[in-house]
Amino acid sequence: MKILVTGGAGFIGSNIVDALIEKDHEVAIVDNLSTGLKENINQKAKFYEGDITSREILEEIFEKFSPEAIFHLAAQINVRHSVEDPLKDIKVNVIGTVNLLTLAEEYEVKKFIYSSTGGAIYGDDVERPTPETAEERPISPYGMDKLSAERFIEYFKGRNPSLKTICLRYANVYGPRQNPHGEAGVISIFTPKMLKEEPIEVWGDGEQTRDYVYVGDVVAVNLAALEFDGSGTYNIGTGVETSVNKLAEIVQAATDSQSEVKHVEAKEGEQKASSLSYQKAYQDLGWKPEVEFEEGVKRTVEWYRNRSNK
Ligand SMILES: NC(=O)c1ccc[n+]([C@@H]2O[C@H](COP(=O)([O-])OP(=O)(O)OC[C@H]3O[C@@H](n4cnc5c(N)ncnc54)[C@H](O)[C@@H]3O)[C@@H](O)[C@H]2O)c1
Repeated sequence: MKILVTGGAGFIGSNIVDALIEKDHEVAIVDNLSTGLKENINQKAKFYEGDITSREILEEIFEKFSPEAIFHLAAQINVRHSVEDPLKDIKVNVIGTVNLLTLAEEYEVKKFIYSSTGGAIYGDDVERPTPETAEERPISPYGMDKLSAERFIEYFKGRNPSLKTICLRYANVYGPRQNPHGEAGVISIFTPKMLKEEPIEVWGDGEQTRDYVYVGDVVAVNLAALEFDGSGTYNIGTGVETSVNKLAEIVQAATDSQSEVKHVEAKEGEQKASSLSYQKAYQDLGWKPEVEFEEGVKRTVEWYRNRSNK
C-alpha cells in the first residue's frame, strides 16, 4: 500500500515507518525536521522536507505519491509551548490537520490514522483507567487543538463515506528515539542523566502517576488500525499507573546508576494521576500492550547506551 507518514522523522513516526517498510509498504514521509531527526529517516522511504501547514508542499506530495493511507503524527507536541504560543499550536495541530484532510478528500485517500493524546484531552477527576466515554476536558491549547483536530477528522469522515478514520489517544509513550522536549519525555530526560551519573530532578513529592506505554506497542496498534475495516477513537495505554518516584527507581536500576534524585518545587497545575483503559482497542482492534514497563525501560536504556558509544 502507498502510505504517507507525517512526522515520520520523529520519535513515534519513525518507528511506525520502519515497521511499515518491514511489511513491504511503499512509504513517503513529510517532516519539517523541527524536532525530528534526519538520522531517524528510513532510507527506503521517500522523504519530503516541508511543513504540513503549506498547501504547496502537500499538494506536490499528493500529486506525485498519491497515498492510499495516511498516518498523521506531525504536530507541535510541547504543552508549555502551546501555552506560550497558542496561535502556532493551532496552525500546526489544527490547520495542518485540516490541510491534510482536504487533500485526503480530493485524492480519495481510504484511511486516515491520527496520533492523538489521552494524557492532554481528559482532565483530572475522571475515572481511571479512563475509558473513551469519559468527558473530554482539555486544559491546555495543545489538548484543545488535538481534540479539535479529532473533531475535524470526524467531520471529514461524515462527508466521505468511503474514508475510514481512526484516532489513537496515547498515554505517555516512551522508548528508543524519544527526544526529551516533548509531551512525556521524563524517561528520555532521566536516562541520559543517569548514564552520566548526573543528578535528576523530581517535581514535588514524586507521587504523581502516569501511564507509560512502550513505543513498540504503539507501533503495533497503528498496524492493527491499518488492518481494521472500521473507524473509531481508542485510548492507547496500559491501565497501569507508575509514580515518578517508582520510575526513577526503575531507570536507576536499569542504568546501574548512583545519580542523586533531588526533589524540587512542584509544578503548578500538574495533573496528579492518569491512566487509560485499553479495553475498547482490545475489543475492536485485538490490541493490548505487551511490553512490561521494566522491560521497556531496559530496551530504552540499551538504546541510549549504544547511542552514546557511537
Ligand atoms: N510522545 C508521546 O508520549 C505522545 C503522547 C500523546 C500523543 N502523541 C502524539 O504523537 C505524535 C508524534 O509525537 P512524537 O512523540 O513522536 O513527537 P516528535 O516531536 O518526535 O514527532 C513529531 C514530528 O513532527 C514533525 N513536525 C512538527 N511540526 C511539523 C510541521 N509543521 N510540518 C511537518 N512536520 C512537523 C517534527 O519534526 C517531528 O519529526 C504527535 O502527534 C503527538 O501529539 C505523542
